[in-house]
Amino acid sequence: MSKLSISQIGAPVLRQTAQDVEFPLSAAIQQLVIDLIYTAELANGVGIAAPQVAASLNLFILASRPSPRYPQAPTMEPTAIINPKIIDRSSENIGGWEGCLSVPDQRAVVYRARWVDVEYCNMQGELQHKRFSDFVARIFQHEYDHLRGVLFIDHVRPNDLVSEEKYQQICFDPLPSQEHSVS
Ligand code: NI
Repeated sequence: MSKLSISQIGAPVLRQTAQDVEFPLSAAIQQLVIDLIYTAELANGVGIAAPQVAASLNLFILASRPSPRYPQAPTMEPTAIINPKIIDRSSENIGGWEGCLSVPDQRAVVYRARWVDVEYCNMQGELQHKRFSDFVARIFQHEYDHLRGVLFIDHVRPNDLVSEEKYQQICFDPLPSQEHSVS
């Protein structure tokens, strides 16, 4: 396992449209998945997308678990999401705090669909159909954005961004129509 260098805002790869992954997975892509999971874990991330490590591929990791950055996150097995598509989404949007390993020291409340119906391939290339809800749906939508060159800050007004320090002070205050869904 290797800790990968995380691209920071300003890196052109973060603004590119990623390319589909081909099956069967090459040894290099299999290793990339292992390294992405390891890198997200070390960085206290609950997800990470391949473009964040300068690999412009339609691939991300969902890895919700409680951490100092997201103390209330539910626990799940880290999952590789390959060539995903969002098929449907709730009409209801809910606000929740987000940050990004590629956007240091910035947090904001982002409004996203409460649930998403998705398709993606697993490591074996088998098509999966799933519905993700609440916090995991938020991670999914955030990482899915990365595959299209979109960052969470694109969804908010500049004045709505707060520093990590400020976030730590206010993140447990109730917000309208959200249930502490921080991402
Ligand atoms: Ni991100």
